[in-house]
Amino acid sequence: MAKDFWIGEVHQGKYDDQEIELKGWVHRTRGSNKIWFIVLRDSTGLIQCVIKKSVVGDESFDLIKGALIESSIILKGTIKSTEREHGYELQVTNAKVIGPVNPDNPFPITESAMLEAEGGESEFLLDNRHLYLRTSRMTNMLKVRSTIFGAIHSYFRNQDFIEYQAPNFVAGAVEGGSTLFEVPYFGKKAYLTQSWQLYAEAAMPALERLYTIAPSFRAEKSRTRRHLTEFWHAEMEIAWASNDEVMKYGEGVVRTAASKLLEERESELNELGRDLSLVERYADNPYPRMRYDEAVEILQSKNVEIEWGQDLDYSKEKILTADFDLPHFLTHYPRIAKPFYHRPDPSDQKYVLCHDLLAPEGYGEIIGGGERTWSEEEILERIDEEGTPREPYEFYIDTRRYGGVPHGGFGLGVDRICAWLAGADHIRETIPFPRDSRRVTP
Ligand code: 4AD
Ligand code: MG
Repeated sequence: MAKDFWIGEVHQGKYDDQEIELKGWVHRTRGSNKIWFIVLRDSTGLIQCVIKKSVVGDESFDLIKGALIESSIILKGTIKSTEREHGYELQVTNAKVIGPVNPDNPFPITESAMLEAEGGESEFLLDNRHLYLRTSRMTNMLKVRSTIFGAIHSYFRNQDFIEYQAPNFVAGAVEGGSTLFEVPYFGKKAYLTQSWQLYAEAAMPALERLYTIAPSFRAEKSRTRRHLTEFWHAEMEIAWASNDEVMKYGEGVVRTAASKLLEERESELNELGRDLSLVERYADNPYPRMRYDEAVEILQSKNVEIEWGQDLDYSKEKILTADFDLPHFLTHYPRIAKPFYHRPDPSDQKYVLCHDLLAPEGYGEIIGGGERTWSEEEILERIDEEGTPREPYEFYIDTRRYGGVPHGGFGLGVDRICAWLAGADHIRETIPFPRDSRRVTP
């Protein structure tokens, strides 16, 4: 039952005038009682197929003519180049329906439903997400996503980082209690992890350079363009590194993702309506850096109400990044704005040695990272000043008792970088089955 021929290869000119067999799904049909045109879809593209009654016989003709949109079929025939829409067509000699669609229950994702939904955000399309995945918009997005995952893996592996896995059931918060998902755990309480980081820091003295791409969970109550409750998190941790050095990796991985997309996904990005010159700019240029204080001044000059000490939320980042032409690192946030693991700046303890990478075009934060508190004394001070109980972090504190060293790392929201590089309006467009506060189905 293997598949030997792919529509994408036909369009590369591999099979001119040859007899081949194409397997796929009915995308569109039209025709008469004598000649029937099917646009066939497979994972690599579309092709027009011409079926003549005089060639395939009455019985086959009627069966294939009854194959509704999204029926799976196998068509044998000869590839001819044409002047028409798709460049090549298959002149069919033999047609078979494999998985028919019942006429009483036709494929619900019609072009008019798509138009009404303007890009896949209607409840109807979300209810039918399992079928919506087959549309060209979603297929293109999933290919872009795959390239970004591949780029992240190869970026880290090419520099001898070790892929390392942390537990998803944990006893404490990494990024604050308000977005913790609690799960019953055999009469006790556990949480779904918000980040791999603390368990990665435990392995830092063993591996020195480590990374992962794994799901993280946040009980985000509000539905926004950039929040999911389950998102994919690329994280790295490195020993003997300063905030500046960690930022170089953040810039490196994001630029690698942008240039891999240009190499592998030009046509998908074009079909998604993305301006490729922007992606090129993000691949080719270094990312500027700015301190938090400067960002606050810019926001205040734009009459945005912000007090020194507040973390920047989406509404503020959106305004700040609207006229950025490149991603910018924001460094040195106030100590009070960031969790206990961030290391205070020895030259001014009001700040921590951290960074967020903010994507331009109003997308905002895609990376959060920095240097870690690494002495026992400093970490206890930070936990206590935050008012966090020490107990769930005993293992973490313990790692500092045996040869602590300066180290740092970051977390990159993979769905967010997909949304930004693909130019999607909403993070939901980038993930097959988006999870938010209102939806865990399908
Ligand atoms: O800034 P965050 O909260 O940082 C951490 O979790 C650190 N422990 C990471 C580290 O240093 N290892 O999250 C990191 C990134 C954000 O910049 C954002 O891109 C993404 O994770 N992120 C989300 N993406 C989608 N939906 C959400 N609800 C997200 N929350 C964070
Ligand atoms: Mg953050």
